[in-house]
Amino acid sequence: MKNILITGGAGFIGSHLVRRFVNKYPQYNIYNLDILSYAGNLENIKDIEDKENYSFIKGDITELDLIRSVFQENQIDTVVHLAAESHVDRSISDPLIFIKTNVLGTATLLQVAKESWKDDMNDKLFYHVSTDEVFGSLGHEGYFYEDTNYDPRSPYSSSKASSDHLVRAWYHTYKLPIIVSNCSNNYGPNQFPEKLIPLFINNIINNKPLPVYGKGINVRDWLYVEDHARAIDDIIHKGKVGETYNIGGHNEWTNIDLIHLLIKLTDQKLGREVGSSKSLITFVTDRAGHDLRYAIDATKLKNDIGWMPSLQFEEGLSKTIDWYLDNTEWLENVVSGRYREFYEKQYANR
Ligand code: NAD
Ligand code: TYD
Repeated sequence: MKNILITGGAGFIGSHLVRRFVNKYPQYNIYNLDILSYAGNLENIKDIEDKENYSFIKGDITELDLIRSVFQENQIDTVVHLAAESHVDRSISDPLIFIKTNVLGTATLLQVAKESWKDDMNDKLFYHVSTDEVFGSLGHEGYFYEDTNYDPRSPYSSSKASSDHLVRAWYHTYKLPIIVSNCSNNYGPNQFPEKLIPLFINNIINNKPLPVYGKGINVRDWLYVEDHARAIDDIIHKGKVGETYNIGGHNEWTNIDLIHLLIKLTDQKLGREVGSSKSLITFVTDRAGHDLRYAIDATKLKNDIGWMPSLQFEEGLSKTIDWYLDNTEWLENVVSGRYREFYEKQYANR
């Protein structure tokens, strides 16, 4: 029996985690707190909304009184914190909301968890979901380890780094039971089409330009979203309080190679001549401060918890493309409205 508060459960990763927990653990009560920003979409979790062990609360993690009442009314004993502003390009054009949500929001949750649990920290857990981007940018060699020094470069990654530091400060200062995980780039169904993979799938479908930043030589380590959700589940149940775990896909790709694979698979599925969508590739001005390479060493997770990624990249990409092709209504809904305004502003001067 647990009362688990998952923040950001209407977003991309959060929705996969909420579904996993609601279905797999009927004995846990799952409270999903989400502000429903442009990235939060209740359609993502429609299939579980009527389950008895699930409740949705629309709200802002920076609102102290609201968070206090959520803890009190529901006897929250576990927090899995994903709510965040998560897109690097948005953080470059509008950094302050990243500081508010990612830094103040995390501090607010920590503070309420501490107040609520101060008399008995047993069987409590504050699990913080973070990113490998806090470690900065690698050259062509080397990996990020759990003890790699922090060196964030974007407003997004520095706000996540700040939140990680706050989580560890509450552990050392107040003995709050915490775990932090830092994961590499995720991909899969329900990802908002502003991130590379869903944006490019959508643009290939609609014969729109594929804006490759710089020369397309930047490297990311891609992990299927359900593998990330499984890692979080495993760490919550088998991880050690106070520890940090790196989660990664052992799956490094330059953007341009990934884009060629994406084009091949999508052209095949659309019945187009394979490779014909390469003509959509458009090299545009590089992202400011664009990190060259991220690569996670996830040996600790494998040795201590027994977790390994389950999907080969081509299989995961294929499932992802199928999902977007089967869910064109979802795609059209999110591409219209507020997302469109951002998209036009974002690419206007490139
Ligand atoms: P996302 O942008 O898809 O979803 C974020 C969710 O948080 C949305 O549902 C949004 O409505 C909600 N939210 C935003 N501000 C809020 C607020 N003030 N109060 C309550 N809810 C709020 O993000 P994602 O890609 O699912 O990422 C989830 C978490 O995982 C983030 O903390 C991110 O830093 C981390 N992460 C993401 C990746 C990745 O590749 N996407 C990789 C590693 C770590
Ligand atoms: P993104 O999905 O935004 O994730 P992150 O920046 O957090 O790693 O971008 C992945 C890579 O793709 C990154 O190197 C930037 C690049 N990129 C493009 O070349 N064009 C685009 O339109 C986008 C959104 C990203």
